[in-house]
Amino acid sequence: MKNNKLAIIGVGHVGSYVLADAMKTELFSEIVVIDKDKDVAFGEALDQAHATALTYMSNTNVYAGDYQDVKDADIIIIAAGPSVIITDKNAKPDRALLAEVNAEVIREVMEGITTYTKDAIIILITNPLDTIVYIAENEFGYPKGRLFGTGTMLDSARLRHAVASNYNIDPKSVTGYMMGEHGMTAFPVFSRLNVQGFGEKELDIHFQGKEALNREVFGQKVVDTAYDVITSKGWTNAAIAQAAITLAKAVLLDERSVYPVCTTLNGQYGYEGDVALSMPCIIGKNGVEQQLEIELDEEEIELLHKSAQYIQETMRIAGT
Ligand code: 2OP
Repeated sequence: MKNNKLAIIGVGHVGSYVLADAMKTELFSEIVVIDKDKDVAFGEALDQAHATALTYMSNTNVYAGDYQDVKDADIIIIAAGPSVIITDKNAKPDRALLAEVNAEVIREVMEGITTYTKDAIIILITNPLDTIVYIAENEFGYPKGRLFGTGTMLDSARLRHAVASNYNIDPKSVTGYMMGEHGMTAFPVFSRLNVQGFGEKELDIHFQGKEALNREVFGQKVVDTAYDVITSKGWTNAAIAQAAITLAKAVLLDERSVYPVCTTLNGQYGYEGDVALSMPCIIGKNGVEQQLEIELDEEEIELLHKSAQYIQETMRIAGT
């Protein structure tokens, strides 16, 4: 088997969970952990190294390192910077509040990475995700497709979970996704939502739901449920880490799986390199192999433009 190498940049609440999940996949022979706080990187790596002595773990070589260690990485996952700022316990913490501070973080991280490689597939998690992807993808000459953000993959998992809970079925049986911004203005593509082929209009007929499937209600539920987690435990990490690792696996195994991820648009929906947002993409060994412009209904198109506008406002705050 090929010696796969993963680099994780930023091991706070999110990055450390990514690391733990990555170890459990047993897909990586080498994992380098990089953090501004070298003690934290050292501690996280050593803690995971201890776990490899237990019989159920593979003998991954996990260690704390520096940017020069990304030079032969196959995949780099970036979770650097705070993921959310809580200014008021009763308000929804908009990810856009992080635009200025995390724009600086990502510029520093990308500078560090591109000094040593432009070959690795980069998966971004840092918020505000769409703005951060735009900066990373467009300011450093990184090859097209080899860099993308987890985007609405997480929001989509939340949508599938909400629909599945409503009908008391397995979320894996729900095919559906959110598009647009990862955050407040993400919207469900209800015209395409289905459970094994049963679409929006048939679901309430064939399945016993707790409430009628309603675009606005379920769209808002998905956006709000992030805050249910954040206001109770202070941050989110389990689901986003799983999203990043699922994408890493799709790259490593050249799965050509279709997931909603964030990239800069090149003509899709009328945007020509001036916004990054999430749409379905084929993920394989070269990263984003293809962006899939799905036809949306009128209501969805309107929501897409609103979301793109909101991202562009955030991009301006970040100085793009
Ligand atoms: C999330 O949606 C905070 O962006 C993070 O879980």
